[in-house]
Amino acid sequence: MKYNMTLTAEEEAILNGSQGETMAKVMKTLVLYGDAFGATKMVPVSSKMGHLVTSFGLKVMKPVYSLMDQLIEGGALSKQKFSVDPKPLDPNVPANFLQKLIFNKFMYSMQDSYDKQLADMGLIDDKSYTCTCYMDEVGNIPEKGEILSWAESSAVVYANSVLGARCNRNSGIIELFGSIVGKVPYFGLLTDEGRKATWIVEVKTTKKPEAQILGSAIGMKVMEDVPFVKGLDKWIGTELDGDTKAYLKDFGAATASNGAVGLYHIENLTPEAVEQGESLVAENAQVYVIDDAELARVQANYPVMWKDKEATPKLCFVGCPHLSHAQLIEWTDNVVEGLKKNGLKKVSIPTVFTAAPGVIEEFEKTPYAAKLKETGVVLSYICPLMYMNNPLCKSMPVITNSNKLRTYTTSRYYRSDEILDIITKEAK
Ligand code: F3S
Repeated sequence: MKYNMTLTAEEEAILNGSQGETMAKVMKTLVLYGDAFGATKMVPVSSKMGHLVTSFGLKVMKPVYSLMDQLIEGGALSKQKFSVDPKPLDPNVPANFLQKLIFNKFMYSMQDSYDKQLADMGLIDDKSYTCTCYMDEVGNIPEKGEILSWAESSAVVYANSVLGARCNRNSGIIELFGSIVGKVPYFGLLTDEGRKATWIVEVKTTKKPEAQILGSAIGMKVMEDVPFVKGLDKWIGTELDGDTKAYLKDFGAATASNGAVGLYHIENLTPEAVEQGESLVAENAQVYVIDDAELARVQANYPVMWKDKEATPKLCFVGCPHLSHAQLIEWTDNVVEGLKKNGLKKVSIPTVFTAAPGVIEEFEKTPYAAKLKETGVVLSYICPLMYMNNPLCKSMPVITNSNKLRTYTTSRYYRSDEILDIITKEAK
């Protein structure tokens, strides 16, 4: 096989079958992938744990299941334990009879057998299904400078930007292959050069910008480039505490889904920006100024995909990416307060908050869990995108404060304050 990158003798031996035919194929795929992106060499994956994006047992994904079988039979297991994206199904999430039939009998009929394959391959445990694997309650938290083999876009951008780890925006399965070999091709966001900002974003708003809209605006402008954001520390501070991390989680997921951002730097806040300051900005960087009018313009331009634009929402999702423990508490307080103000006992629109199983477990130990339950809000570990990814949900008027969910489904975006208002007021 011909390739351009430089391999060590050991890597070359793996490629030539020293660890078996299956491992050779996995290595070959990684080398071809690296070559396509101009990688110069392979580097060791140095994080303790991996993370996989493919968590759902969709019936149509037959090639994935046979690939997993071949890997397991060939002894090509992940060298590191891994977490995985959220499950698509939860019996607690509202669904009508037809939806349940379609979900269980047709769409996700491979879920149980795929869960078993994941466990055989190296899944940490059955509580490790979440896109926010970096939450304290989940514990897959890479350290600064560690090299990762992940693909989930919201987790990659968080790990790169907030934690200072190094990971490319890999695709599903490629990330698994990196964890199997324990090496990834060296290019892009793994290199110092690739982590330089080619955009300066100047935040000049008169109030704290909504994380999901600011991220969306930046993502749509810079696409896959790296932005250096100035002026945001005025609103979210210079400490990476729980609130700021949750803000950056939501902001980053929007940059990564509304564009293809894999890394951002926030002046005076994120680790590399604190250490290196403006020397992170590449020469001739472009400038994007964001003020209140720009954010309003961006929100006003989101297309509404509902057939009946005046329809009463049938479902509301909050928690894409999954909510943190503190966000769950804040939302609980806000919903309780909002209902009281409007003289209601329960939310007027069926509402689902989503969070990691470990976060939910901790939340259930607090008095807030009973308060939230009383409001009628359902707490779940699913991925709302997976839930909506079918013809029945496409025609359903769903609302969300997630710009990622809006981008990939027919759900309609509202800011968090608007969502709160809608679900705690009498429905139209
Ligand atoms: Fe997470 Fe699913 Fe949203 S993986 S970021 S909840 S689309």
